[in-house]
Amino acid sequence: MSGQLRFLLGYEQLVKNLLQSLPEDDAAAQAVGGDFEHFGVLEHALLRGEGLRDGSSILDVGCGSGRLATKLGRYPALRYLGLDVVPELLDYARRKVGRPDFHFEKVDAPKMPLSAPVLDFCVFFSVFTHILPEESYVYLEEAHRVLKPGGKVVFSFLEHASAASKPVFDANLKWVRERHVAGHLNTFLHRADLRVWAERIGFEVAALHLGESRFIEVDAECATPAVSEGLYALGQSVCVLRKRGG
Ligand SMILES: C[S@@+](CC[C@H](N)C(=O)[O-])C[C@H]1O[C@@H](n2cnc3c(N)ncnc32)[C@H](O)[C@@H]1O
Repeated sequence: MSGQLRFLLGYEQLVKNLLQSLPEDDAAAQAVGGDFEHFGVLEHALLRGEGLRDGSSILDVGCGSGRLATKLGRYPALRYLGLDVVPELLDYARRKVGRPDFHFEKVDAPKMPLSAPVLDFCVFFSVFTHILPEESYVYLEEAHRVLKPGGKVVFSFLEHASAASKPVFDANLKWVRERHVAGHLNTFLHRADLRVWAERIGFEVAALHLGESRFIEVDAECATPAVSEGLYALGQSVCVLRKRGG
């Protein structure tokens, strides 16, 4: 096994460690990368910009502790399913969001628990950043299977073309050189490969944004006391794919 993989922690263990050492709210926020409110607002605003409305149906893969779901709780007719590999995060999200009609389920494999193409959105925020590219590819195939024609996949990713991704690559290099820090896997994808994947699976590439690009418009509807109206960058690059045929 490569040096880097030998020093990796799985997400389940990472969350257990955080829960043992921090109050639950802090552990739940850190498990998804921190800044719960800020990134919740940006994810919500980004999806509104892509057409998310009350009544949309959305699958949030790697939903974590509910950073996005808490912002979507305001839409009474929205259909929401969150999937994650860590049961403690799903329990936390369920409690935090407090919507009995929002569903949260554990997954053990890149398989969507849906049998028909019923979704308007399938989103992966900061998930393809932590799994192997092959698993991301299978997730995209699954997303294609369960999206309606014209439905969208939105995912964030790390790429060398983005200056915003460089600190993460530097941290990866540090692991490899020093071989003593246990963290989780940080995976880089390449936009040229994403175009090939999209074509193979049956998507068109609707948008690709660099991590530092301030393309997310937080309007009055999405702004909160902590995150004011304006244009923001996500920090990770963003890809939007549309299922052909809509
Ligand atoms: C950085 S967090 C992002 C959480 C959430 N999407 C957000 O933006 O707040 C990554 C999440 O992906 C989950 N995860 C890791 N591997 C996964 C997999 N193979 N399938 C689904 N979720 C996974 C982790 O448990 C964690 O909750």
